Amino acid sequence: MNFLKSTLLLPLFLLPFACRQTEEAKTPDLKADPHSFAQPNEAVTKHLDLHLAVDFDQKKLSGYAKWTIENKGADEIIFDTRNLDIQKVTIGKDERVTEYFLVDPDELLGTALRVKIEPETDMVTIYYATKPGAAALGWMEPSQTAGKKLPFLFTQGQAILTRTWIPCQDSPGIRITYDATIQTPIGMLALMSAENPQEKTADGIYHFRMEQPIPPYLIALAVGDIAFKAVGPRTGVYAEPPLLEKTAWEFADMEKMVESAESLYGPYAWGRYDLIVLPPGFPFGGMENPRLTFATPTVIAGDRSLVSLVAHELAHSWSGNLVTNATWNDFWLNEGFTVYFERRIMEKLYGKEYVDMLAALEYQELLDEIKDINAGKHPEDTQLKLDLAGRDPDEAGTDIAYQKGAFFLQYIEEKSGRERFDAFLKQYFEEHKFQVMTTEEFLAYLKKNLLDKYKIDVNVDEWVYQPDLPADFPIPHSDRFAKVEAAAKKVADTLPDTTGWTSHEWVHFIRQLPENVDVATLKKLDEKYNLTQSGNSEILFAWYETAIRRGYSGQILPSIENFLVNVGRRRFLMPIYRAFKETGQLETARKIFEKAKSGYHAVSYGSVEQLLNNGE
Ligand code: BES
Ligand code: ZN
Repeated sequence: MNFLKSTLLLPLFLLPFACRQTEEAKTPDLKADPHSFAQPNEAVTKHLDLHLAVDFDQKKLSGYAKWTIENKGADEIIFDTRNLDIQKVTIGKDERVTEYFLVDPDELLGTALRVKIEPETDMVTIYYATKPGAAALGWMEPSQTAGKKLPFLFTQGQAILTRTWIPCQDSPGIRITYDATIQTPIGMLALMSAENPQEKTADGIYHFRMEQPIPPYLIALAVGDIAFKAVGPRTGVYAEPPLLEKTAWEFADMEKMVESAESLYGPYAWGRYDLIVLPPGFPFGGMENPRLTFATPTVIAGDRSLVSLVAHELAHSWSGNLVTNATWNDFWLNEGFTVYFERRIMEKLYGKEYVDMLAALEYQELLDEIKDINAGKHPEDTQLKLDLAGRDPDEAGTDIAYQKGAFFLQYIEEKSGRERFDAFLKQYFEEHKFQVMTTEEFLAYLKKNLLDKYKIDVNVDEWVYQPDLPADFPIPHSDRFAKVEAAAKKVADTLPDTTGWTSHEWVHFIRQLPENVDVATLKKLDEKYNLTQSGNSEILFAWYETAIRRGYSGQILPSIENFLVNVGRRRFLMPIYRAFKETGQLETARKIFEKAKSGYHAVSYGSVEQLLNNGE
């Protein structure tokens, strides 16, 4: 049925919908989500049986999504879709064809797919294909992979992109289990956020099962020339063959990380914990897809210096994947808890000195972010609890959720003592596992089980509902950074003795260089320490941004361009492009973007394009 025809059907449909109200009590537990069209209190998805074929030539996934639903006697069920080619919808096990209607698309949220069902319908099958621009899908050409021979596909669901490759009720408050069958070209491996194969099959067909209920943003797929290597009994890495050994070496501590996380907040609930290194076009550092973290290759530094990213994505196995933010307005519950948890894992494995550096770096980033937010259109975004109705939930992804959120928990820890706080958090995860959490529910739980219980005084309202930072914010301190700051101050006179510096000290040093540092000094630093050619992506990122802002970029432009063309991680791209723009070099930025953009995933492409062409 095409769109026009279905539009004409509208009046027919509206009739039964209008008298849909029955005597039956509504289930009150599903929260209203401003970023989903679904009406889960009427009919809600429970289990997905997904069958898709992967076509690299046409950059298309096609097949069907068979949904088992819980129907409260409704005569329609609403799915989120965005830019999908819907071919047929059936109801029941006997697959009777039913009518459906695609509502006018909303640029941000996509199109509600309204399917006519009967009060006893418990299964809906949607036959469909994705379209070329599907925002969740990263189709990489062979030239954009490490092996250079085969193409690669990865998906990115968070926040509201799963609807661009699967018709689903795309709200973090809705949990589903899934089975999937994926047909790939022969010679490729498919992996999902599920029980995974460790070897390629002869026929290119793969079966998956995710038994624990997860929100749709955590459904994920990767297909490519991928190999597996174990690093521990229940941990391992996947990567393209040329990267496999390096990857396994870099993440050798994964098993220890899982053990240390479990010792803090209770058993790991998902069976195996594996990680896949994706091509550099992956737009994030990491994504916590259950059982299989997706990661950027830019964390492979050759010295294990950036493995806090693994601690972070692993921590999401509790905060986010087990206890999930109800809507994207509560995003700090996912990310703030995870950053706090990440630091606790890192402290157990690498000591307090290391974590003090991490926290101090991130505190600086938080201050910069607050400045930027306050200069923009939404100064209220410095609150932890957000109101993102009508806005892209991506806009919640600031250091407020991550860092202000994490420092809030650290503050409560300091007020209550670590032992009590750890017991509280462990119990919180245990009691709410596989459930959804709102900010208000968390605060009520916190009050009852910690603050009131031990008579602890915390200015919760100020932290969560007020802008900026509270007056008694726990400013982090690092002794090692104090030395770095002193070295940065006198850099024009003496180049520092950097023996034993970690990459964090390097990054801090670069960021602390005096405003008026001259080009000659930057050049001397570069010649002595080879910063422009560093093998560490965080150092490169800090150095390139500083170089542009302090007038040194002309001399190293080919290297900066090379970085921007080969790396698709948005956290690196945005500040570098912004630095060009803010120093009157917009044309240079645009020229580089033209060369680089075909390798960027829609998430990064959209943000950079907006920055360079629309002034944000
Ligand atoms: N879940 C996030 C990534 C994300 C957030 C994707 C919002 C889409 C929307 C992931 O856990 C994350 O925070 N990744 C960070 C790395 C981390 C070490 C802070 C990143 O990608 O930079
Ligand atoms: Zn995260």
